[in-house]
Amino acid sequence: MPKKVFSIKKSVSSKKAPESEEELFSEPSETKKAVVNSPSVVRAGKRTPELLRGFRDILPDEQPYWDMVRDATRSVAEAYSFDRIDLPILEREELILRTIGKQTDIVEKEMYAFEDQGGDRVVLRPEMTASAVRAYINHGMLNLSQPVKLYYMGPNFRYERPQAGRYRQHHQIGFEVMGSEEPILDAQLMVLTFHLLKDLGIDTVMHVNSIGTLESRQQYKTELTSYYRSKRNQICEDCKRRLLKNPLRLLDCKVETCQPIKADAPQILDWLDEDSKNHFMHVLEFLDEAGVPYTLDSRLVRGLDYYTRTVFEIWAAADEGERSQNSLGGGGRYDNLIEMLGGREGTPACGVALGMERIILAMRELQVEIPKHGADVFFAQLGDAARRQGLRLFEECRRSGIRIREAFGKNALKTQLELANKCAVPYTLILGQKEVLDGTIIIRDMESGAQEIADVTKIVSLLKKKLEPKEKEEKS
Ligand code: HAM
Repeated sequence: MPKKVFSIKKSVSSKKAPESEEELFSEPSETKKAVVNSPSVVRAGKRTPELLRGFRDILPDEQPYWDMVRDATRSVAEAYSFDRIDLPILEREELILRTIGKQTDIVEKEMYAFEDQGGDRVVLRPEMTASAVRAYINHGMLNLSQPVKLYYMGPNFRYERPQAGRYRQHHQIGFEVMGSEEPILDAQLMVLTFHLLKDLGIDTVMHVNSIGTLESRQQYKTELTSYYRSKRNQICEDCKRRLLKNPLRLLDCKVETCQPIKADAPQILDWLDEDSKNHFMHVLEFLDEAGVPYTLDSRLVRGLDYYTRTVFEIWAAADEGERSQNSLGGGGRYDNLIEMLGGREGTPACGVALGMERIILAMRELQVEIPKHGADVFFAQLGDAARRQGLRLFEECRRSGIRIREAFGKNALKTQLELANKCAVPYTLILGQKEVLDGTIIIRDMESGAQEIADVTKIVSLLKKKLEPKEKEEKS
């Protein structure tokens, strides 16, 4: 994919364009907060409320990235036969407690949970797999032809410590496959993720592991616990806590002094049951066949409790080796979850979700070119009568497929022509008092500056003829 510097234009609500990712993706600095609440803003004691920590506005200048990510997602989802599902942002707390696990960071520290006016305990969803499974069961999708393949996009909420690439509201794209345990489907999730990110200009590497079934993992946990107990006086305080509460999370520790202990810890792959081992071998064979680069990562356990067998994370190839950075996405198999939530016994499933903010950060770092949605014609008007006629004429052009722009809120012709120049349109239509009376309109060629007068009733067909060569050029 060709790469080019994409310059962020001036943001709409602030006077200054964001200069760095930190600036665009982080909350306002103390200085900026001071400016926001400076006397010019704090008028007559009306202080502007600040954005919540860890939350962001996605300003118009950033939207082309979001559009590009959504478009690429839709196209990949369609190709791989995933159907769109939209899920509610608010769910019963019980759903999250029963799926993600009570002893995970999300449930222990990061939930936006409260009681609603009717006395129900509810949460702003921290992820969407639980909701997708609930919907699969609620809507009897287990009676459809299996597997059911669903995809979604939307916001999630986790009360985390905000930092670059980590927010309290983030957006995910996700793909879930329910009702099959075929290893090709685990691999397909990784293949489509790899290609989706490639389409967006990001080279990635998968980190893959298998954590086996609940039973085999229990044996491994016992082994891991006894190993760490023997090192108890050498591990950090967090690890001491993990040892008691959730031993698998010991493998996630980033503290320097714990690394040698982690390196010698028993490996989960050695404790896999035969079925999980075979399943995993098949997943890897499919990945090899599909040419998706991956690394076997025996320490990868993921932060949610519902996984069984395959687990994986997606990392930007540029971040390889810097494991302290954030992953672009993660997923795996969750063969017990549907049954745990009251669905049909033994219904297997797997899925993946990607962080949209993190994808966009990576695209910006890699200076990925954003397709421009250009315009063909600008409509400029002068005087009340022209404005009145202009509204109808503008709509006529738009309906006939001409990409037309306007500035009905402006009066001066000079300002409107300046805007037309900014839109880089080949033609501007100018309608003034005289033209309205004559039933004509001026067509200005923006490159040469030449103007011609045309019959206003023929303007659509005339413009179409003029734009034909440009359209052909764009298609070729
Ligand atoms: P997760 O690893 O918790 O998995 O989140 C998936 C992705 O969401 C992360 O890799 C990251 O890109 C993004 N993400 C998570 N938290 C934040 C945050 N605070 N700020 C910015 N981005 C964030 C899940 O949520 C599972 N539901 C994935 C899955 C789907 N497993 C099976 N199906």
